[in-house]
This record gives sequence, C-alpha cells and structure tokens, in this order.
Amino acid sequence: MKNLKAFLSALGSHLSSESILTDPHECNAYGTDWTRQVANVSAVLLPRSTDQVAKILSLANELEIQIVPSGGRTGLAGGAVASKGEVVLSLSKMNRIDSVDRLSKTVRVQSGAITEAVHEHCKQSGLLWPIDLAAKGTCEIGGNLSTNAGGVRVIRYGMTRKWVTALQVVTMQGEIIELNRNLEKNNTGYDLLQLIIGSEGTLAVITEATLKLTRLPRFKNIFLFSVTSLEQMARLCEEANFGPFHITAFEFFSQKCLHTVQEKLKRISRIGDTAPFYVLMEIERSSNDLSEVEEWLGKILEESLVVDGSLAQSSEDEKASWGLREGITESIAVTGPVRKYDVAVPVSQMVPFLTEGQKMFSRMNLSIDLYLFGHFGDGSPHFNLVKKPDCSMQEFSNQCDRFEIELFALLKRYGGSVSAEHGVGNLKKHWVTYSRTNRELELYRSIKKAFDPKHLLNPGKILDI
Ligand code: MLT
Ligand code: ZN
Repeated sequence: MKNLKAFLSALGSHLSSESILTDPHECNAYGTDWTRQVANVSAVLLPRSTDQVAKILSLANELEIQIVPSGGRTGLAGGAVASKGEVVLSLSKMNRIDSVDRLSKTVRVQSGAITEAVHEHCKQSGLLWPIDLAAKGTCEIGGNLSTNAGGVRVIRYGMTRKWVTALQVVTMQGEIIELNRNLEKNNTGYDLLQLIIGSEGTLAVITEATLKLTRLPRFKNIFLFSVTSLEQMARLCEEANFGPFHITAFEFFSQKCLHTVQEKLKRISRIGDTAPFYVLMEIERSSNDLSEVEEWLGKILEESLVVDGSLAQSSEDEKASWGLREGITESIAVTGPVRKYDVAVPVSQMVPFLTEGQKMFSRMNLSIDLYLFGHFGDGSPHFNLVKKPDCSMQEFSNQCDRFEIELFALLKRYGGSVSAEHGVGNLKKHWVTYSRTNRELELYRSIKKAFDPKHLLNPGKILDI
C-alpha cells in the first residue's frame, strides 16, 4: 500500500513497537472473522488509548491509508474483513471496565472489553447489560455497538442500540467526540450516537461507551418444547405471550439442527428428538412460586399445544438446554462450508414465510443441506446452507447463489430485511437495495462523505461508494 512505510514510521513515535504488527502471518489473523474470508492485511495496530487512536486516524487520513476497525471478529457478514491490504485497527487492548454506577444503572467501558466480562462485572451489582449472543465469550463491546448486535433476548430487551447512553468516538480526521454524555434524555436534534451504532465502523471508530443496565431477573426458567409444525410453534408463542411470566427468549431450531448438535458436539436433549421443530423458551418471573408456571405448562401439555415440553429443574439442565441452541453455529461450522442468511420478517409473517421458504428449497432440488433455526419470537430466522461432502465447492457456491436469489425475492414480498442482526458487511451489500430504497442509499452516501470524504474507513462495507 502506498505511503505505508511513511505511515508506520510516523506512528513509531506514538505507539510502542508491540503495538505495531507487520508479520504477514500474524497480521492476517486480524483480517478475517467468522465468515472465514481470506485476509490480506498490511499491518495491525493495537493502540492502548483513545489519544493513540486519534493519532493513528489523523495520520492515516493525511497519508490516505485505509483502515479496518476490528473487535472480537466474530461477525457473520464480513464487516471486519481486511482483504485488500488495509491496515487493521484492533481495539482489543483497550478493554477497561469501570465500576458500575448503581444510581444511574450504567457502566463505562472501553471498546475492547469482552461482552461476557462486562456481563460478569455488572452481575456483581445485581445488574445486567442485556445483549446476549452465542459469541459473548469472544466478541467485544465495540463490535456489538458497531453492528447493533441482536442475539437471543431481543424479544424482551430489543437490540444493542437501546442499551447505550454515551459514546466516545474518533473520526477519521482524528477528532475525539463525546456523544450524549450519559444523558437519559437529550432531545436536541439529530442523534449522532444512534447514527454511529450499527454503522459497522464506516463513519467513526468507537473507543468507549456508557452502557445502560437493567436489574438482573430475579427468577428465570427455561423450557424445551417439541412441536409438530410451525403453526403449532406460533400458537405456543402466542399462548406464552399471555402466560404468568415475561418471555426473555423464544428460540427455535429444526430437527436437523438438533441432530447435528447432538452428533457433533455430543450435547444431550432431555426431550425426544423425533419432532420436526424445537423451541427453547426462557422466562423471567418476580416471584419464587413456581406453581403458576407449572400450571401453565400442564395446560399447554393437556391441550396438546406441543408434542413434548419440559421445564429445566437445575442449573445443569438450563445450561444443557442453552447448549443445544447456542451450539448450532459451531456444530454447523464443523459439518462443512456454510452460507448464512440472517433475515427478518414481521413476527406475524414468520409461519407463512418459513413455510414458503422451506417449500421453495425442496422444489429447487438442490444437493445442499438446509438448517433452519433462530429467533422465532422477534421474527429473525436463520437459513444456513451447508455443503454436502459429495458436492464440489463450485457447485455448492452456484446452488447457494440460486437459492439466495429466490430467498431474497420471497423476502421482498414479505417486506422483510436482508439482515436482521448480523449487519451488511461486505457479504450483504449487493442485496441492501432489497431493504433500503435508492433515496435512503443516496442519503447514506452523503452521510459517509460528511464523516469520511476520502473513503478510508472500513472501505467496501455496507455499500460501495
Ligand atoms: C445465532 O443466532 O446463533 C447467531 O446469529 C449466529 C448464527 O447465525 O450462526
Ligand atoms: Zn442469531
């Protein structure tokens, strides 16, 4: 990359030598994410402070160096991929977590803090940052914010953007900007904090955030259900909406997903595995008295709203139930190459959309496997296509492309979104017009120009300029 030498040498007086990596093997590990795209990284920078980030960005802007911000790199849309010789700016060393403010129920963290470490920290004060993802042990707060991550509790708490009261960001020009200063109410025009959240590192680099917290649920329970059909699943969800509790997760998976988790990860299910679909439902209650919940479960079973249903009786049971749902991604990854579609439709359209999607898949007579799972309760199913051993890589790719066209056409008919929670990155940008109008995209380009007129920050993500 032009000017790289001058850039790194100028940085030498601001960053220690351990903060600048140039060995290609070491660097490329920072240029990919869970999409496993091939990386090509010129250098990796590991700043220890916001001032260092500001220095890096202002120099990069001056010397026209392309920068890819990077967190835990667990993304599934290629938002953190550096494949064109860009410099990766990893925030991982900036992982400070401050004391919890118990009065305002907030905590200030740096971008590189691991999500699970933030959960553990807040738990000690009886508080919760309610964004919960299967990748929580590896993903970082900066990545969660940049992608406006979803996860398994959106049905109760919403997406990441609801749980932030302040951001510190650095622009490509090296300015440090504090957004919203932890105000619960701030009704003064455009909300730049919300604009940065979900912008996938294309507008500015998030260095710190104040996260909004809520009380930890007092009593939690986890059910596993098997159902005969999607219609039955929807009836169960509707019934649960009016149960003596709050639903905190209503997740589903197909029999194929269950069998793969059982086989590949040796996870055990405490209900039978002969039904076509399964539901993991988590609830929270304010009272210790389980009798109402047991009564509700009895009614569900008696009225044959499910094939089978079971309430976890111990924390081991609960862990095992979540292990089935959260192990799906890993079990699929070890099965073969995968194409992921993380789409959204209105919850009321889940049944017809999924029914049509499955029928379409069968009709196309493809020689690939379909794994269906995801977040039923908030209308975001995941279609995962997995290569069979006897299908060539080229054939797999062609077949996925064919399915993709049909899936997105179907999605358009249902008024859905091509990304519910994984973001656009470089994988979904060609489909963004299915979810956003041309006028919206024109405005996107103007916003990008206002922040980063030279197009140096996370180039090629969300849209091509
Ligand atoms: C999930 O719901 O488990 C995540 O979005 C990851 C995935 O889609 O594989
Ligand atoms: Zn998901």
